[in-house]
Amino acid sequence: MSFQRKILITGGAGFIGSHVVRLFVNKYPQYLIVNLDKLTYAGNLENLKDVEHSSNYHFIKGDIVDESFVLKLFNEHRFDSVIHLAAESHVDRSIVSPTDFIFTNIVGTVNLLNAARKIWDKGNLSNNDLKSVEREKKNSVPYRFYHISTDEVYGSLNETGHFTESTPYDPRSPYSASKAAADHLVRAYAHTYKLPVVITNCSNNYGPYQFPEKLIPLAINNIKNNVPVPVYGKGENVRDWLWVEDHAAAIDLVFHEGRTGATYNIGGFNEWKNLDVIRLLCKIMDEKLGLEVGKSEQLITFVKDRAGHDMRYAIDSSKISKELGWKPSLTFEEGLSKTVDWYLANEEWLQHVTSGANHKYNQQQYHHRKQHVR
Ligand code: NAD
Ligand code: TYD
Repeated sequence: MSFQRKILITGGAGFIGSHVVRLFVNKYPQYLIVNLDKLTYAGNLENLKDVEHSSNYHFIKGDIVDESFVLKLFNEHRFDSVIHLAAESHVDRSIVSPTDFIFTNIVGTVNLLNAARKIWDKGNLSNNDLKSVEREKKNSVPYRFYHISTDEVYGSLNETGHFTESTPYDPRSPYSASKAAADHLVRAYAHTYKLPVVITNCSNNYGPYQFPEKLIPLAINNIKNNVPVPVYGKGENVRDWLWVEDHAAAIDLVFHEGRTGATYNIGGFNEWKNLDVIRLLCKIMDEKLGLEVGKSEQLITFVKDRAGHDMRYAIDSSKISKELGWKPSLTFEEGLSKTVDWYLANEEWLQHVTSGANHKYNQQQYHHRKQHVR
């Protein structure tokens, strides 16, 4: 079967990546979707069970840090576009072991940029490839390197203001610094080599398939198991939460309609203090588990703050709304309720991902923080 496009999605077995893969595989049977993922602790093929047998889906296990592997892959598959999500994504882990973040988030991104540049640069194409470039032009299939990034590159806000696309970069954790470096490199390749790139910077996502080390799934899992829910510092830090399927829908829109070279911020206009998020979750969990009102809140435990904890993130997403007509589809209450339902219905998934070394990592972190309570 010949496909209209051949799209490489990196990190497709992770949280957001799995939603993007599912959306593209189901919505675009005319595209071949190749999912490249190393399957780290955060990547899990169970996230994609419902699409794994689709004829327009192909999974490849591999590491974007491996330069020769990446080059070979591009040479073999001649992707016309890349949607790059693979990353080390957890701030707390970046504080404990920053080097992994430098390799995957920076070196891995550069390897992908180099490989795309190599096969898309007309100077490097054989006659046959040139014919296919002409064909692609006629069918208006543009090359596209779409880099998925975070609002954390902009730093931390006080009580007022929002991040816009022109806010200067001010990353403050090893995670956000590594993502900022990758963003700069993507823009540098666009400027220097005319690589057709697009970047989006999104706020905190939540929803099904998120590894239970991030705040919302961790709290759900802990309440479910009747163990303490750690709140860093006073719980006053603010995040702007977005339902993951709304992010995937924005990625679809930007991939197809975003201007080449542009950056778009994506956020929910949905700011919450951490403690308020946890309290709302506790209320929902009391209801869903049939517990007496206030029972789950008893699990809230204040622990030592995160080092260098960013105070507030808030995204101004008016550019993507005005230019591309994107807007979030769910309220936070609706999204959290759906998220809790999903985690309660997917006991087996939770068991699998929390078994072994990664669960131990979370427990060690908790005990360490608890000993150093403020
Ligand atoms: P995740 O940690 O759930 O998934 C990351 C995926 O990348 C995993 O499947 C993992 O196996 C894979 N991966 C890691 N290292 C790899 C390597 N060296 N080679 C190949 N694959 C590798 O992350 P997520 O939360 O789904 O985030 C996806 C992307 O979106 C990241 O780039 C992240 O920076 C960005 N982002 C995340 C959020 C959020 O709230 N989660 C918000 C904005 C942007
Ligand atoms: P997290 O989900 O790790 O996302 P990020 O650090 O990328 O924003 O954390 C969200 C917020 O919740 C952040 O302010 C840190 C805080 N937090 C806790 O209070 N307790 C926890 O156990 C975790 C994981 C996070």
